[in-house]
Amino acid sequence: MSVSDAVASRRSVRAFLDKSVALDVLTRVMDKARFAPSGCNFQPWEASILTGEPLKALQAKMMASAPQDPPEYDWSGPNISPAHKARLFAVSEDMYGAMGITRENKDARRAFVADNIVSFHAPAVLLCYFPRFMGPPQWSDVGMWLQTIMLLLREEGLDSCPQEYLWQHARLIKDFIGVSDETHIFFCGMAIGYRDAQAPINAFPRERVPLDEQVRFIGF
Ligand SMILES: Cc1cc2nc3c(=O)[nH]c(=O)nc-3n(C[C@H](O)[C@H](O)[C@H](O)COP(=O)(O)O)c2cc1C
Repeated sequence: MSVSDAVASRRSVRAFLDKSVALDVLTRVMDKARFAPSGCNFQPWEASILTGEPLKALQAKMMASAPQDPPEYDWSGPNISPAHKARLFAVSEDMYGAMGITRENKDARRAFVADNIVSFHAPAVLLCYFPRFMGPPQWSDVGMWLQTIMLLLREEGLDSCPQEYLWQHARLIKDFIGVSDETHIFFCGMAIGYRDAQAPINAFPRERVPLDEQVRFIGF
């Protein structure tokens, strides 16, 4: 698979086939992803990947728990910007529209959001965390690592969905996997599995901002 094909075919997948992911495949992906770039070669990222009984046990604990307070970090992003808010609104409409869930159907929307807890029934879930002392440049390094993983997963025929939502149970997650809350911040989860190609939730078109609004080419 070319890099272009990996980029073009990656999308956040929210319905998976009931098919487990082999350890050797994930080991290969994670081993290759070590070569993601990072400022000063800090490689600030860390992760645990769960499947089977341990994953089910963690999910059961999360389902039985209220979201943590205070939150792990402020994930709300650029709330003050109407342009960015509009992008969130658009993807929500496209996503719920694909499933035939109207804006008025709050229960169905809530149920779908809650499905994040079980990572949309993905057979494997990556949990990403890193030392608390890392600053904004290192957060960005972690993002590059996660994207490298997601592209390598495509090469293996696998799909993913990054999940900030699990942030709600950051402390519970760290406690479960034996990572210190004092030293480490939990960033996000990542659902990993084989895409259900028939599921409408995996097929809606995703909007993107036109190139000329994002990039300026100067001096060419
Ligand atoms: C760091 C990060 C966290 C995300 N968290 C969630 C999440 O909790 N739940 C979810 O359904 N999608 C989540 N997404 C997926 C985004 O909604 C998605 O990337 C965006 O809408 C663009 O769609 P695409 O990934 O299909 O191209 C997350 C994406 C990123 C990069």
